[in-house]
Amino acid sequence: MNKKLGKFITIEGAEGVGKTTNMAFIKKWLDEKEIKHILTREPGGTPIAESIRDLLLVPRNEIVDESTELLLMFAARAQHLAEVIIPSLNRGEWVLCDRFTDATYAYQGGGRGISSEKISTLEHLVQGDLRPDLTLLLDIPVTQGLERALGRSKPDRFEQEKIEFFERVRGSYLSRASDFPQQYRVIDASNTLSEVQLELGVALEEFLHEVK
Ligand code: TMP
Repeated sequence: MNKKLGKFITIEGAEGVGKTTNMAFIKKWLDEKEIKHILTREPGGTPIAESIRDLLLVPRNEIVDESTELLLMFAARAQHLAEVIIPSLNRGEWVLCDRFTDATYAYQGGGRGISSEKISTLEHLVQGDLRPDLTLLLDIPVTQGLERALGRSKPDRFEQEKIEFFERVRGSYLSRASDFPQQYRVIDASNTLSEVQLELGVALEEFLHEVK
């Protein structure tokens, strides 16, 4: 893989943490700094990957095998990396991505119980040594997040999971954040929006300072 020039920022968190609103805030921050960037998401970000997203999120009667789910996540990711993320980084643009492989460790690893070793094997196969430069983890108590998420739309296949599933997802995110302190900034998303955005702003300024 070529040496990337742009920076790769991901935003993570369980359901209802406010990713969409805060992506818009980060986009505004990047615009103000005149940093060329793209916004994208996973699973998705290209036509093929968006089709895989539909396959993954639609509630269905057939039980989705956990390995099928894992491989579809990485299939979408491979396409997204090849078509969007790597070309953008190589052009020197920053990539702001709503979820990436840390979500796989949290949902397929923590949530479904797939081992980190299996996930890590696919991570190396699909990404080589490409990892996010900064992961902003929006953290919120599970019940508070689910209340928000389920209040706004019909639940997708993941949102239909039990509360214990999301407790494991949250636990995995927090344990990865403590394992990779260089990559992660944990933001308390149970605070008011202005407090959350204040914290995000500080994290982004610190990151910019580090990479300049
Ligand atoms: P969202 O983008 O609307 O949050 O929905 C995407 C869903 O897909 C969310 O429930 C988390 C899940 N997901 C995984 O289970 N594994 C992954 O690797 C990714 C990127 C998302």
